[in-house]
This record gives sequence, structure tokens and C-alpha cells, in this order.
Amino acid sequence: MSDQLPPVTPDSRDHPPLPPVRVERRAVDEAESRAANGPDWDRYADDYQATHGEFLGDAGFVWGPEGLTEAEAGVLGDVRDKDVLEVGSGAGQCSRWVRSRGGRGVGLDLSYRQLQHSRRLDESTGLWVPSVLGTATALPFRAASFDAVFSSFGALQFVADLGEAVGEVARVLRPGGRFAFSITHPTRWMFPDDPGTDGLVASQSYWDRTPYVEVDESTGAVSYVEHHRTLGDWVGILAGHGFRITDLLEPEWPEGHERVWGGWSGVRGRIGPGTAVIGCDLG
Ligand SMILES: C[S@@+](CC[C@H](N)C(=O)[O-])C[C@H]1O[C@@H](n2cnc3c(N)ncnc32)[C@H](O)[C@@H]1O
Repeated sequence: MSDQLPPVTPDSRDHPPLPPVRVERRAVDEAESRAANGPDWDRYADDYQATHGEFLGDAGFVWGPEGLTEAEAGVLGDVRDKDVLEVGSGAGQCSRWVRSRGGRGVGLDLSYRQLQHSRRLDESTGLWVPSVLGTATALPFRAASFDAVFSSFGALQFVADLGEAVGEVARVLRPGGRFAFSITHPTRWMFPDDPGTDGLVASQSYWDRTPYVEVDESTGAVSYVEHHRTLGDWVGILAGHGFRITDLLEPEWPEGHERVWGGWSGVRGRIGPGTAVIGCDLG
């Protein structure tokens, strides 16, 4: 990693302020999604790690804001002596947990700054996660390289070409390989992204797949994109690439858990699911 960039610390909040944006719903293709989301995560990485790093744990594996851990869920399964790829690995906390359990965890992320945080945690924990800069839609690995692939709120809801991304996972997995991932629960798309009571009132169609887009007010350029798929879309795409779904977890909001994370909160979490964790096997 370059020494020319600002030092990476657990709580560096000295990054330039995020640009003012306006929110739109409109079609955005894969190239535009990637061109927006890479730099967006570079800008946001310091704040993300400062805000959520402690909750995630430097070598912890959390599936989402409810705090469900892989140790509790077991949806990825036993990783010991396995080759395991994390797509959208951020600072590599989950892959570090995989390594602590005897797996050969490898990370991939679109954001260089997130990977710098990963290197910071490699150094501070002594648990090194080999990581590459790349995109979920073009994995830089040979076919049949991994026993398991996973993503904890990583790339999957940021790509326009979900079929490409799932196809890439199927390609790099060995026969019978495991794929597990968490995403915003598809039913959340109907509600405003608000952790308060306004976020409990359905206001948009579950079936409208038009992406959520933030546009930089000063340049007019797309600066952030999220893509939505219904539960039926997920089943169709996974089955279409040869996966057999074995798990759909909808973690409940734990008693006494007061964390607010974006649109996730106890107010909403006690009423309906904010996260879906899907586990499937290839072939
Ligand atoms: C919400 S963060 C989750 C990171 C990590 N899994 C965690 O739990 O902290 C989403 C991550 O996905 C990465 N990402 C977004 N689009 C991606 C893409 N097309 N390919 C790979 N990673 C991507 C972002 O850079 C970011 O690090």
C-alpha cells in the first residue's frame, strides 16, 4: 500500500467532508455504479471504520447491524483448512475471523481506502488477510479456486449486473462449494431509509427495481448507487447459476440492542427484518 496517502488510523475523521448530494431513483448501469461506488467508499471508509469498527471487531464476523455473528449462525459453515473468498471485504474483519478459525481467508474490495484499513488491522492484530482491489463482477481468480465465498453486506447490492457477480462466484467455487451472504432485507425497499417511526410507513413499491442513486450536487455526477432485487429475483438468479438455497435467515433485533446504523434501529428492527442472510451450495 502507498505511503503517500493520509495515515490510516482507527478513528481518523480528518477526511474532506462528503459532498452534498440529492437522491434520485433512476436506471444506472454497471460501469456507472462502479465508477460511483469505488470513490464513494474511498471517501467514506475512514468514517465507516471509525463509526462501526468496534462493533465489527478487528477479527469479528458480524452478518449485519442486528449483531448476528457467524459463530452463532453457522451459515458459512466450518472454514478450517478451506480456501475462502470474501467479496466486498472492506477492512477484512470477517476474513480475519476466518483466518482465526484456521481458514485461508482472502479479501476483495472495490475501495483502495477500505483495503488500507484492512492492512492497518492486519498489522495491529497479526492476522493477515491477503486482499486485492477488484470488483465482484470480474473476480481476478482462476476457476474452482475456493471452497467457500461470502459477503457480509459487501458488493452484491452495489452491482448492477448481479447475474455477472453470482456467475463469477459460481465460476471461482469448487463443485459443492458454499456461498453465503447478507444484504438489506428486500422488504426494506418499500420503506424510507429512516431509523425512526417514519421508516415504518411503506411508501414505495417492493417491485420497483429502479436503483437508489445519490447525485453530487456540485458536479451532477452519480456519486453512489444501490440496487434492489426482490426475494424472488434472488431465488431465480441463484438457482439459475446452479445454487441450491439451504438458508434464509432473518435476524431478529436482540433485546436491549440499542445500536442505530443508518436505517437500522430497534424501533424498526423490533417490527420487521432489516437483514437477510442467504446460504446456498453449488450443484
Ligand atoms: C457495507 S461495506 C461492508 C464491508 C464489510 N463486509 C463489513 O462488514 O464491514 C460494503 C463494501 O463493499 C465494497 N464494494 C462496493 N461495490 C463493490 C464491488 N462492485 N465489488 C467489490 N466490492 C464492492 C465497498 O467498497 C465496501 O467496502
